[in-house]
Amino acid sequence: MDTVKIALAKGRLAEDTIALLKKIGISFKEYSKKSRKLIFKDDTERIKLVFVKSIDIPTYVEKGAVDIGIVGKDILMEDRADVYEILNLNIGRCKICVAGFEDYDFNPNKKLIVASKYPNIAKNYFNKKGILTDVIKINGSVELAPILDLSDVIVDIVETGNTLKENGLVILEEIHDISARLVVNKVSLKTKNDEIEGLINGLESIL
Ligand code: PRP
Repeated sequence: MDTVKIALAKGRLAEDTIALLKKIGISFKEYSKKSRKLIFKDDTERIKLVFVKSIDIPTYVEKGAVDIGIVGKDILMEDRADVYEILNLNIGRCKICVAGFEDYDFNPNKKLIVASKYPNIAKNYFNKKGILTDVIKINGSVELAPILDLSDVIVDIVETGNTLKENGLVILEEIHDISARLVVNKVSLKTKNDEIEGLINGLESIL
């Protein structure tokens, strides 16, 4: 049996994914969230977990460096990759939203300035609405942008809503529901079909 490599990002999604895999009999005794190791083998040595930054997962899967990726729909929407999106794992659920000050007054005669970790999603969303934008790419703590007058609004992920609330911002519009997806490299799906299908069927049966 060939080893199947799965890319995922550290954090809550990794914990939820490892819990899902455990339910179908795949466990990683060596894994600990405190560890700085980047690759873990499962106890049968048939599966390898590879930890990469979430934004890089589609690239690793598309190029065949790994066979499978577990990644948020937000990342897949932002950077379209040539991979098969096979399963909605229904974990890592959140929303991608336009947020800003509650009393934000949209001016149709002025370009809307938007700060976001997701410039493509932001641009596409406002383009479809016929709203002209200047999108500023920000890599984190996006909530600061309207507070410091860098932008009018932000486009960002909202999970509990606590970050918005604690920074005096609100959801202005909801763009899309987000959850984690299982994506597969197109060649791996043929060359490691038995192993990958087995894994997909197992996950499907518990979802
Ligand atoms: C994400 C997102 C929001 C926050 C939303 O940031 O960009 O800032 O989580 O979560 P909440 O609705 O549960 O408060 P992340 O934690 O990834 O950190 P970052 O700002 O450094 O990107």
